[in-house]
Amino acid sequence: MTDQIRRQLPIVGVAKVPHGRDRMTCLYRCGNACDHPVPNVSDNDYFGDMVQTEVTRRGVMRVGAAGAVALGLGGAGVLSASPAFAAAEPAPALPPVGEVTAMTEQTTNLTFKAVAPNRVDALVVPNGYDHSVVIRWGDPVVPGAKRFDVHNQTLEAQLKQFGYNNDFVAVLPLDKKATRALLVCNHEYTNEDLMFPNFVSQDALTAEQIKIAMAAHGMSVVEIERVGKTGQYVLVDSGSRPYNRRVTALTTHFKLTGPAAGSDLLKTAADPTGADVIGTLNNCAGGVTPWGTILSGEENFNQYFVGAETSTGDAKTRFNRYGIDTVNRYPSGSRKWERVDERFDLSKNPNEANRFGWIVEFDPFTPGSTPRKHTAMGRVKHEGANIIKSKDAKAVAYMGDDERFDYLYKFVSDKKVDGRNTPEARKHNLTVLESGTLYVAKLGYTSASEIDGTGKLPTDGAFNGTGTWIPLVKGGKSMVEGMTVDEVLVFTRLAGDKVGATKMDRPEDVEPNPVNRKIYVALTNNTNRGVGTNAAADEANPRNGNKHGHILEITEDNDDHTGTTFTWQIPIVCGDPTDPATYFMGYDKTKVSPISCPDNVAFDGAGNLWISTDGNALQSNDGLFAVPLEGPEKGHLKQFLSVPFGAETCGPWITDDNKSVFVAVQHPGEISGASVASPASNWPDGDFAKPGIAVTWSVWNRNVGS
Ligand code: FEO
Ligand code: CA
Ligand code: CA
Repeated sequence: MTDQIRRQLPIVGVAKVPHGRDRMTCLYRCGNACDHPVPNVSDNDYFGDMVQTEVTRRGVMRVGAAGAVALGLGGAGVLSASPAFAAAEPAPALPPVGEVTAMTEQTTNLTFKAVAPNRVDALVVPNGYDHSVVIRWGDPVVPGAKRFDVHNQTLEAQLKQFGYNNDFVAVLPLDKKATRALLVCNHEYTNEDLMFPNFVSQDALTAEQIKIAMAAHGMSVVEIERVGKTGQYVLVDSGSRPYNRRVTALTTHFKLTGPAAGSDLLKTAADPTGADVIGTLNNCAGGVTPWGTILSGEENFNQYFVGAETSTGDAKTRFNRYGIDTVNRYPSGSRKWERVDERFDLSKNPNEANRFGWIVEFDPFTPGSTPRKHTAMGRVKHEGANIIKSKDAKAVAYMGDDERFDYLYKFVSDKKVDGRNTPEARKHNLTVLESGTLYVAKLGYTSASEIDGTGKLPTDGAFNGTGTWIPLVKGGKSMVEGMTVDEVLVFTRLAGDKVGATKMDRPEDVEPNPVNRKIYVALTNNTNRGVGTNAAADEANPRNGNKHGHILEITEDNDDHTGTTFTWQIPIVCGDPTDPATYFMGYDKTKVSPISCPDNVAFDGAGNLWISTDGNALQSNDGLFAVPLEGPEKGHLKQFLSVPFGAETCGPWITDDNKSVFVAVQHPGEISGASVASPASNWPDGDFAKPGIAVTWSVWNRNVGS
């Protein structure tokens, strides 16, 4: 690299938006979603308006139930992984994979000294910890990839190099002691301002530069190896590395599976089968299945399409509901990809957008495998999906639709997960997500009349209530009046509207805790809550103008993840702990770290909750936080690390042995006015800003958090 250390932009007086993100992040990340109308204009207002429900703290209906209270049956299940056998794909060299997703029994006491809020352009970790960068934008992925040169970027090179803006991270061991592992990550979006020296505008990009951006989207798989017996990992940079791979928005074919595959709604001129899609877009968070594949959420796909302003009738309604602009050909944030591929012009290919917004399943252990998009899991702006195995061995995936006032979903597979470690089991498990029941969540409240939008805790001491999973597709049949199965699965948001789902404050990561088997939902923020004609605060989203977000905890009745009823509570209401409208499970607020805009969640071996943030509205850098959910320290939330200036914290991933925490540092230096020549961050190499993945470990070889 030839760039010398660049001048840094001043870090004060930058163009901030109300929720804390920089304008530049809004532009590239979600196509200025907050500047567009709220896509959910349905009048399925909150549950408390429709049914005067009062429930006890234990969730037993007293009066006016809004759905049957079903008691589920089943037996306990533990996540386990099977190794990488191929299904219909070429047989890979079989890695000796052990328990890919199982947690250990090790305890993790969160005794680390909290990192203070800061605006430092560095990755800051607690005393006693070290960190290193594992891989960053442009590093070689596929053997033979060219050395990165920001001034001489080519499509050929980017197709083999690490993509931009890493988000989801998974580390899958290749041996029992995880001395080698596969690091898999999503590349959510690109920022051409910060990628191309002398960037002027999207219109001025060359066709090759647009294709480079398309190639920098998608996913990467790389082999990493442990350094000695420490928690540090480094990139394997020699040898055959058969699993190393790039999946892109430009070249990779995806197979659509499930009930809507082949539907007329998914056919295009280029794909009359309606089942063969080129590319994946805006892959945000994700998860690892019990059988060791990756799930990846296609999120803000709307911003890649133009041409919907010519639409009318149902087509217009559907585009609007997914945030696709039906007024302007080029809404702010347009990427102009139709300049190189008219698939992205909806006036010519109106169904192309229907082929994005899915949960992708990707098998990193089978080189050359075709990733799949599962229509049975519905089409929304998927943040991600995370599976827990039910007591009767069904795969139950929990999912959030990351938009203001959108919904929580779960998918229960028809088939059982085969826990055996055989090629037959592998082949079977790769079909498990192709059929099942899709549900959307409707929440009931215990203290509806006390919610005034300030975040004041109700007199019963909790934001809490019951909930019902409302089926949308079940047994291969539509459960939504006036909609076919194909319509429910392709226009899932409209189905959720019809059944009166609960409007949430941007549901991002939704993950089952493998230790206590409860579900944790990151609700990032919603500054439109209670503003104008938008829905007002309710007990599950208790603050109007919600700048800092909160965490929702769901407990399935009878530990039955296939059931239709649950209870919920809010363990954490985020913000500055001196703000009375915050809550940390009742813990002494003078001892907790400020936290704002929870985005991703993860769990260590003891079941402690780890939370990463995106868009800190308290004006300090984003970070990673950890909090016990049980015991005397329950609610003692502390900041574990902070990411460099302008970045958000993605991932995170805690290894099964509790020795390493991986975080994806996404969009460092993404501050309006920044460029390659004038970066707002010098992370990670001291020159211009590059997204990258870092690993953190205890220098005393303790468990992370200790
Ligand atoms: Fe890509 Fe919901 O964050
Ligand atoms: Ca209550
Ligand atoms: Ca996210």
